Amino acid sequence: MNIKEKFLEKFNQEPLVVRSPARVNMIGEHTDYNEGFVLPASIDKEMILAISKNNQNICNLYSDDFKESFSFNINDLKKTDKVWTYYLMGVVEQFQKLGLKISGFNCVFGGNIPMGAGLSSSAALECCLAFALNELFSFDLDKIDLVKISQKAENDFVGVKCGIMDQFISIFGKKNHVLKLDCRTLDYKYYPFEFDDIKIVLFDTQVKHSLASSEYNTRRIECEKGVEILKKYYPQINSLRDIDLNTLNKHKNELDSIIYKRCKYVISENLRLNNACDALENNDLNTFGKLMFETHEGLKNDYEVSCFELDCLIDLVKNEKNVLGARMMGGGFGGCTINLIKINSIQEISQKVSEQYNKITGKKLEIYTGIIENGTSIIQL
Ligand code: GLA
Repeated sequence: MNIKEKFLEKFNQEPLVVRSPARVNMIGEHTDYNEGFVLPASIDKEMILAISKNNQNICNLYSDDFKESFSFNINDLKKTDKVWTYYLMGVVEQFQKLGLKISGFNCVFGGNIPMGAGLSSSAALECCLAFALNELFSFDLDKIDLVKISQKAENDFVGVKCGIMDQFISIFGKKNHVLKLDCRTLDYKYYPFEFDDIKIVLFDTQVKHSLASSEYNTRRIECEKGVEILKKYYPQINSLRDIDLNTLNKHKNELDSIIYKRCKYVISENLRLNNACDALENNDLNTFGKLMFETHEGLKNDYEVSCFELDCLIDLVKNEKNVLGARMMGGGFGGCTINLIKINSIQEISQKVSEQYNKITGKKLEIYTGIIENGTSIIQL
């Protein structure tokens, strides 16, 4: 039964139905909260949410994935043991903080984005509800407002100090394009990303990452510490975006070795991303792919957010000539690797990697192809 049918069965009202996609990121990892650049795309896995007003103060939620219901009073938002409700209450709270009055609603949601796989199912859910509330209550907010509301919901209510990438691409994604986002100015540019002979393939370690785990927030603090120390010498700098590698190296001895590694990674990653965009403009996917492999090395050795299973998947493809590039993707500590693979060898490589991965880790690999689709939209039924 689809989400709309489920809604009709539960609430017997005609709902508004919204979809919001998952995302991949080609290159530019852990750069968004350092005011750097990212290169994500929204893909054909999505969250679907059906909603209508109920003219009370109560919000009635049903998660089709968890087969669980939950109701809360719109004037009394608080955390319970049902973590999936945080993303929705977080969005409601942000509307309220902006002085935008919403009344109660009924809502059913679910989709096919694997959870904990680093594909940003949480951002998709936040963006779905933000988009839907804006429509339902005719607030006339623009897309950037919806992105910021969704990101703040995650920062404040959920408590993950994530950057803006996931929510931005979930709303702004464009079919067959990747988006280069300057996370400082929020300027963006689309690049066509559709090739006859190459596809995006995701290998899911099946190790559930938990971004809320303290490591993500720790990385942020480490980068901020680096900036704080360098600021003594260069008061005009605001983030690692403003520093180049030579300048960083001049102060290597004053930085704790961990902080140094974190800063080195972020500065190098922004450079790599810009080179990758040049490569895209020249249709040079070989160079693009090499840069992805370099990013993985940086995430593994300097930023230290990889894990045994992710490294194993990269080792298994790095000598395959039909794999142009591969790296771990997203926050890290589990989730997926993203691979650019020649179409005619996807099947053979996937099978090989699957078998080896299972032999080495005892885990069953999940494989998805990433088709680039449009960002959040209303589903016209
Ligand atoms: C998570 C966060 C993003 C970004 C990535 C790492 O997906 O939500 O903001 O920081 O990790 O690049």
